[in-house]
Amino acid sequence: MKILVIGSGGREHALAWRLAQSEKVQKVWVAPGNAGTAREPGVENFPASAPATLAEFARREKIGLTVVGPEAPLAEGVVDLFRSRGLRIFGPTRACARLESSKEFSKDFMQRHGIPTAAYRAFSVAAPAHEYLRTRSAPVVVKADGLAAGKGVVVAGSLEEAHRAVDRMLVQASLGAAGSRVVIEDFLEGEEASFIVMCDGREVLPLATSQDHKRLLDGDAGPNTGGMGAYSPAPVVTPEVHARVMREVILPAVNGMAEAGTPYTGFLYAGLMIHEGAPRVLEFNCRLGDPETQPILMRLKSDLYELLDCAVEGRLAGAQAQWDRRVALAVVLAARGYPDAPRGGDEITGLPEPGEDLHVFHAGSARRDGRLVTSGGRVLSVTALGDSVRLAQRRAYEAIEAIGFQGMQFRRDIGHQAVNARSR
Ligand SMILES: Nc1ncnc2c1ncn2[C@@H]1O[C@H](COP(=O)(O)OP(=O)(O)O)[C@@H](O)[C@H]1O
Ligand SMILES: [Mg+2]
Repeated sequence: MKILVIGSGGREHALAWRLAQSEKVQKVWVAPGNAGTAREPGVENFPASAPATLAEFARREKIGLTVVGPEAPLAEGVVDLFRSRGLRIFGPTRACARLESSKEFSKDFMQRHGIPTAAYRAFSVAAPAHEYLRTRSAPVVVKADGLAAGKGVVVAGSLEEAHRAVDRMLVQASLGAAGSRVVIEDFLEGEEASFIVMCDGREVLPLATSQDHKRLLDGDAGPNTGGMGAYSPAPVVTPEVHARVMREVILPAVNGMAEAGTPYTGFLYAGLMIHEGAPRVLEFNCRLGDPETQPILMRLKSDLYELLDCAVEGRLAGAQAQWDRRVALAVVLAARGYPDAPRGGDEITGLPEPGEDLHVFHAGSARRDGRLVTSGGRVLSVTALGDSVRLAQRRAYEAIEAIGFQGMQFRRDIGHQAVNARSR
């Protein structure tokens, strides 16, 4: 079986690496991939991103299964296109991807199906949005409705800041069409966790739990990023919380999509805020998280291809996934200037050999004139397994000591919440 993975980040590198280990998989293509996927055994890059080009490639290469990493091609309808040509693909249709590509759609859906989430209203005109804000108290959250690559959410500490965010999005159109409609929602307290399941339209298979670190700097300070690190499992998701998330969030969501005539297939990611054991949904994503995928797949012991095959064939009901009991932890190494204006072209040195408990996944890396150089904001995610959070941290940070490139930025406290949870 030949596989195609669509995307070019650390998430896609981890997917390709795991899939290449399956006995049923002969070869994994990644489109467009990066310098890490180019060197991964059993993996090769195909330099294209346009859905029509990829569908043509899949037909010509006799690709047996395509897996989609990022949200943009899903929102464009890559799954619908592949299916219309009789090509096997795992991911949500364009209609299902609206759970991520429109925050208003997602909030309305949650409200209709009684899925716990913050109170909200949506607006496309500034005056009523300002009026609504006067009925709220700070902190309050202003979100662009559309896809904004992690830049569409303002957690406003004061009402003045929230009013300014509304004007930036609706009046100055700072985010373009993505911010031409906004959702204003109440601030939720608690601890965040990522809850990701595989879904075949009716049945779900939960993956191992995880948490990520969105802020650039230690102590969860600084600007929001695509994610500076992650670990699995998430101690905040106790067995009781897990059961509640399945019952109150995941099953109503999957049943709701099926009842609407748009059965959900693909990875479904609930971004949760957990407070005193009660989960509430911040957002749905219609794909795996990056960097959560790296630690999750480091811990997956089952054959990833077999699980995906079950999901695509509607046979998830009996499927089970085995997880390494160890903790996996990923530290992202980002380029100088990230997240605002990442600089490329800096030579990367000192990459360690992969091992049973260590793998460096690439994202913004490229090979130029035989040198490995930075070519994006998040460059590498150094992912390690350990018998405890501390040991996984130690293994990852030891490896990082040898790695270098000009202006390399990373957090030194990935996993701090989990360390504290365990020593409490
Ligand atoms: N209602 C809320 N209460 C508190 N924090 C929130 C709320 N909504 C979002 N956030 C914070 O903002 C981050 C980004 O919001 P999210 O809805 O996940 O949007 P996106 O990932 O599309 O940028 C969340 O991870 C969380 O830290
Ligand atoms: Mg999010």
